[in-house]
Amino acid sequence: MPSLDLDEMRRQHPDMRGDWTVPQNWQRFTDAEHGVWRTLYRRLMDVLPGRACDEFLSGLGKLPLDDGIPDFEKLSAVLMKLTGWQVVAVPGLVPDDVFFEHLANRRFPAGNFIRAADSLDYIEEPDVFHDVFGHVPMLAHPVFADYMEAYGKGGLRAEGEGTLHNLARLYWYTVEFGLIETPKGLRIYGSGIASSSAESVYALEHASPNRIAFDLERVMRTKYRIDDFQESYFVIPGFDALFAETYKDFAALYRRLATGPTHEAGEIVPEDRVIHRGTRSYRPHSHAAAQ
Ligand code: PHE
Ligand code: FE
Repeated sequence: MPSLDLDEMRRQHPDMRGDWTVPQNWQRFTDAEHGVWRTLYRRLMDVLPGRACDEFLSGLGKLPLDDGIPDFEKLSAVLMKLTGWQVVAVPGLVPDDVFFEHLANRRFPAGNFIRAADSLDYIEEPDVFHDVFGHVPMLAHPVFADYMEAYGKGGLRAEGEGTLHNLARLYWYTVEFGLIETPKGLRIYGSGIASSSAESVYALEHASPNRIAFDLERVMRTKYRIDDFQESYFVIPGFDALFAETYKDFAALYRRLATGPTHEAGEIVPEDRVIHRGTRSYRPHSHAAAQ
């Protein structure tokens, strides 16, 4: 985990502003870097049709993401018209409060670098491909766009109440690794899945992981792994339902969460509505899976 010390970051990025954003300086990306984006983009387009949900694919189709690393000014102009969101460049991970403050103001912070051409499936930190290709298509969807803003506001509140570990699990199992039930079958909307061709296939088709109906409190009690494909995915019935369930006061929920069980990432509990019970035959990698 890199240091998130503001002074140190300022030394490394003299043009960094107080909100941790930097000028994207789009012209500086090399042909090789744009090539990495295009390669990843092509790989994902081979697997996402029929696997990503219609909302993700429709967002993708409306945004200028198919010709190398996007210029955030142009991308934000399109996104702003659709849902009032913008994409802003940051050097890498930012502190939680900074992240929440951006989301609460409908700005999505995206890493201003791209993974190396010789390690397309491995990233230590979210890069511009994960952050933009993975997250921005769903930000073009009005309900999801509102959910992300509400999450930012909720994050600021949870920090104050000491319940961020619970709220972070909600983000992880929805925004990053969520699946949705549709008339055509399970589909992907989570950015961590949708920006990884291998996990896109694994999340839907592999026998190993659990696929469990989403329950807010259950999810907020469940740990997650950041170093490999997920052992459990949680399935929402729809985006309106997700929003309805989360856009209410969490005070009572946070009080309940202060006691009671915490679940392991791969665990199934008696109250679960299990859509698929995983076989767990999958052998974890020794390195981080690309988000
Ligand atoms: N309802 C949450 C609260 O009271 C905020 C929130 C909304 C969190 C939507 C996540 C998603 O703090
Ligand atoms: Fe992400």
